Amino acid sequence: MEQLEDGRSKKKVTPYLLYCVSTAVIGSLQFGYNTGVINAPEQKLRNFFQNVSMERTGEPFSKEATTMVWSFAVAIFSVGGMIGSFSVGNMVNTFGRRKSMLIVNVLALLGGGMMGLSSLSRSYEMVIIGRLIIGLFCGLCTGLTPMYVGEISPTTVRGAFGTLHQLGVVIGILVAQIFGLESLLGSDALWPVLLALTILPAILQTIMLPFCPESPRYLLIVLKQEEEARQALVRLRGCEDVDDDIQEMKEEGMKMAMEKKVTVLELFRSPNYRQPIVIAIILQLSQQLSGINAVFYYSTGIFKTAGVTQPIYATIGAGVVNTVFTVVSLFLVERAGRRTLHLIGLAGMAISALIMTISLALVKTNDSLSYLAIVGVFAFVASFEMGPGPIPWFIVAELFSQGPRPAAMAVSGCSNWTANFLVGLGFPKLEELCGPYVFLIFMVLLILFFIFTYLKVPETKGRTFDDIAQGFAAKPTQSSAPEEVVVNPPASPEPAPMSPTEK
Ligand code: GLC
Repeated sequence: MEQLEDGRSKKKVTPYLLYCVSTAVIGSLQFGYNTGVINAPEQKLRNFFQNVSMERTGEPFSKEATTMVWSFAVAIFSVGGMIGSFSVGNMVNTFGRRKSMLIVNVLALLGGGMMGLSSLSRSYEMVIIGRLIIGLFCGLCTGLTPMYVGEISPTTVRGAFGTLHQLGVVIGILVAQIFGLESLLGSDALWPVLLALTILPAILQTIMLPFCPESPRYLLIVLKQEEEARQALVRLRGCEDVDDDIQEMKEEGMKMAMEKKVTVLELFRSPNYRQPIVIAIILQLSQQLSGINAVFYYSTGIFKTAGVTQPIYATIGAGVVNTVFTVVSLFLVERAGRRTLHLIGLAGMAISALIMTISLALVKTNDSLSYLAIVGVFAFVASFEMGPGPIPWFIVAELFSQGPRPAAMAVSGCSNWTANFLVGLGFPKLEELCGPYVFLIFMVLLILFFIFTYLKVPETKGRTFDDIAQGFAAKPTQSSAPEEVVVNPPASPEPAPMSPTEK
């Protein structure tokens, strides 16, 4: 991937750019690790809650009370995520991109520290508060990382780099699954270390970030520091000639200067933003309501129901498939495009959901169908990573220009976390009600999301932020100030605008 050409522009992927992107995606790794880490040590944590209750009151918790404390510790992570993701807009507007990424690491140290010391302090409250703080931290990471990566990447590789966020997430989940094995850190003595391990990447990122530049788009468009922006770009692109980038940002900045500061409410009121914000939210919902986390949170149970003898290894297998197909998507996203991959992924997931349903429903009549269940789950996960996994996270940064981007990331990120929370909370109940047919619910939702994507989602591959935003701009008759600004762009190095449904 050293030198990428698309016929119009040559954009070099420099080692320094890779360094900066790698530094940022440590945040993605953290999100994945903390998503996956809580599954394996479930029994150990339940025992810990029981023991603490015994020490304090002389009586162990009832089974129901233990389950309540446990579910609380699991779900509060998503509550933190909702709050954190919603705060992203305010945070980046106040501190900028890079400083925000630096500051949030304090939360990782605090949350990880609390969970790590909970056993020594004989306090299950510290596990719960620690999970809340880590949720806040991860919610912020899911906005900060894709925003920074999207803003420093050259247009031609923005999708591939955007997919690196998801690659970080899936590697984080896999590492957590492996470290969580009883023979490694998932034991009675070591689970606090497993939960506290998130401190190490936080320290690493804190050391690496000072060597990364602030986002040049933020420097130029928001802070109006052209010289600093130019210097940052020269380092990132590895060449002195960064006039094209500067020119493109200036055009975007000129249009933005005419707009009022974009608040969350304005995203929904302004005809220019309404369409992209609806698309951003629905794409995020398509990611979570696809049912992916029903698999990631409960796969061991699903495999057990399907009669698989070593369910934990099938779960790790799903983690491996997850990682491999994210890499596949990484290489396809700049060729096939976001829209096409998202459609392929949704369709594949719908078919896999059907395969899972058939095998779960009939496994009692035929043992060998448990293999079909494994195939179904693996195909479900693989299809997810082709599109619905990576694309919603980074496409939001692409659908908006500099002004509305922070508010849009906040709203869409919060929708993602809310849906994540609802699936996590509701799936066990749904499964109880629907039995082996539970995945049919996700199949229907997947078909609806497919239709929406087909009809409404534009291709953003190879287009500048400004060009994409122009595609959504309201017709002059409906418009207010922004469209009345006459900007005379010089010959653009990027392709001509495409209509929203053009592939
Ligand atoms: C995405 C989702 C996350 C899920 C993961 C699985 O990043 O946002 O909720 O657990 O993919 O790979």
